[in-house]
Order: sequence, then C-alpha cells, then structure tokens
Amino acid sequence: MNIWEELPKPFLVLAPMEGVTDIIFRQVIAQAGRPDLFFTEFTNVSSYASEKGRANALERLEVAPSDHPIIAQIWGKNPAHFSATCQVLASLGFSGVDLNFGCPDKHVNKAGGGAAMIQTPNLAIECLQNAQKSTNLPVSVKTRLGWSQPSEYREWLSVLLAEHPAALTIHLRTKKEMSKVPAHYELIPNIIALRNQISPTTKLVLNGDIKDRTQALKLHQAHPEADGFMIGRGVFANPYCFTNHTPTREELMALLELHLDLYEERASHIPYEPLKHFFKIYINNFPGAKELRTQLMETHNIKEARKIISML
Ligand SMILES: Cc1cc2nc3c(=O)[nH]c(=O)nc-3n(C[C@H](O)[C@H](O)[C@H](O)COP(=O)(O)O)c2cc1C
Repeated sequence: MNIWEELPKPFLVLAPMEGVTDIIFRQVIAQAGRPDLFFTEFTNVSSYASEKGRANALERLEVAPSDHPIIAQIWGKNPAHFSATCQVLASLGFSGVDLNFGCPDKHVNKAGGGAAMIQTPNLAIECLQNAQKSTNLPVSVKTRLGWSQPSEYREWLSVLLAEHPAALTIHLRTKKEMSKVPAHYELIPNIIALRNQISPTTKLVLNGDIKDRTQALKLHQAHPEADGFMIGRGVFANPYCFTNHTPTREELMALLELHLDLYEERASHIPYEPLKHFFKIYINNFPGAKELRTQLMETHNIKEARKIISML
C-alpha cells in the first residue's frame, strides 16, 4: 500500500519540526484535530547506524497509536546509512520514509546533510536510490527551492523528480532565505508543470507560511493540481489549525494538561526545560495569558507547574 495514494485531496500534513513534533506533541495535536498525515522530527541515519547512537535514534522513531499514518523523516549524507535505517522503518510501524534535503541548520549542513544535499546532487540521488532499494515503503523527499536563488528550483527539483519519489514536499524558499522572506507562491504553477512533465505520479506537497486549513484550501482552489499542504509554525498560533476551530481557554488548558500527563509518563528520559517552550502554544490568546505564561516559565519542575494551574 502506498499511503500517499490513500490520502484525501487535498491532504494536510503536520510539518516535521525538530524539538516540537515529538511523540508527545503529536498526540496532543491528534486530540485537538489531526492532520491527514504526521511526520516525525528528523532522525540522523548515522546515529541509527552507530552502536552508540542507535538507542537514541530508535527513541526518536517511537510512534503512538494516534500517530498513524506517520512518515519517518531521516537525514544524513552516508548512502549506506540511509539503507541501514530504511531497512528497519516498516517494522517500526511507519507508512513511509521521507528524506530531509532542506534543513538549513549550520551543524546539519556542516555534516553534509539537509540543505547541503542541494549542493551535492549526485550524493543526494545516491541516498534517495539507496532508500528506495532498501524498503518497500514509499520514499518521499522534503526540500527547498535551492541553495541561494529561487530560480535554482528548476534544475534541483528536476533532478529529484527524475527519481520518481512518492511525494515531494517543497518549502517554497531557498536555504539562504531561511524563513526571512515570504514563501515564493508565485513559483507554484511552474513547479506543478515541472512535476506533471517529469513525474506525474509524485504527490506535490506545498509548504511555507500556510497557517491553517482555510488558507490551505484557498491555495488549493488557486492551484488544484497541488496534492497536499504542510503546516509548520501555524500550529504554534493555533494547535487546532487543522480544523480551523478557535479554541477556548478551557480547551487550551486541557491540551496543556494532556501534554503534561504525556510528559510525565515519559519523564525519566526528557529534561523539563525544553517542555517550557510549549507553554506559549497553549497559554496564548486569552485574557491573562501573558501573566500566566510568565509564572509558568519560572517553574523548575512539573509539580510546580501543576500547582499554578490548579490555582486558576
Ligand atoms: C522549530 C522548527 C524545527 C524544524 N525541524 C524540521 C525538521 O526536523 N525537518 C524538516 O524537514 N523541517 C523542519 N523544519 C521546517 C518545517 O518543517 C517547515 O518546512 C518550515 O517551518 C516552513 O513551514 P511553515 O511556514 O508552515 O512553518 C523546522 C521548523 C521549525 C520552526
């Protein structure tokens, strides 16, 4: 079964976000209003391939029942490590594997991965082909328009499409643009034409500045040949963005409590400080939110956080 063929049209995807879309947050979003498809945060194939890193990689690849269908996103630069990691993903319950060829993080790029692949297209293709040969799961790619100029999209996306990935997600900016300029929606018609010409079976997923379902449906009306839309930071502004529901304070607080409950179930592995980054997602857009957030940011453990919440 190819999951990309089973999805509604258009379909909505929660973007992979390192440090955000972990097993806990995905369960919270599934409760608020699920996308049609989840992605994991990215996992380094070289971690999986090393004895020292494997346990950590497997922990990042853990999935919850409410995650399905879910795609494992991986990154790296060693083709053999892509093969080794892809061989195990079906047995972990994934519906597909996605190769990250777009991350602009300088550590990732220095290691030759993420957007650095745009500058080493032969290596990118070797990694993609190895992934395709090593698993029966559909293999997709998430990337950017190019390294520095938006016009690079034609050459770079043509190289990728020639390998007929199951899906191609395009963050409509270059690596150099980071997230500092508006996404290049003006290029969507050209990108659709390129996909239609080179690999019509590849599902095209558009990404960049799409904040909620309404905006995704509007973009789909303008570009009906785009298959899916991926939302990243929109979920920070509204965890209900896949449903367009505007949550009440009570609903947001219930999501926060769920997040804390799920965290507590796994707390032996996870430090408390990063959990605090999530508070602004839930404690937002209601009277008194700022003051409450300030109080919660000063807490040192979950017990202190729960005490403040219980006094509301
Ligand atoms: C905190 C954060 C972490 C991210 N981590 C990843 C990642 O692990 N893999 C990936 O492909 N993209 C990652 N991205 C990029 C997003 O998936 C997405 O392409 C980008 O945020 C643009 O979409 P948006 O405008 O809807 O946020 C990350 C973005 C953010 C903000």
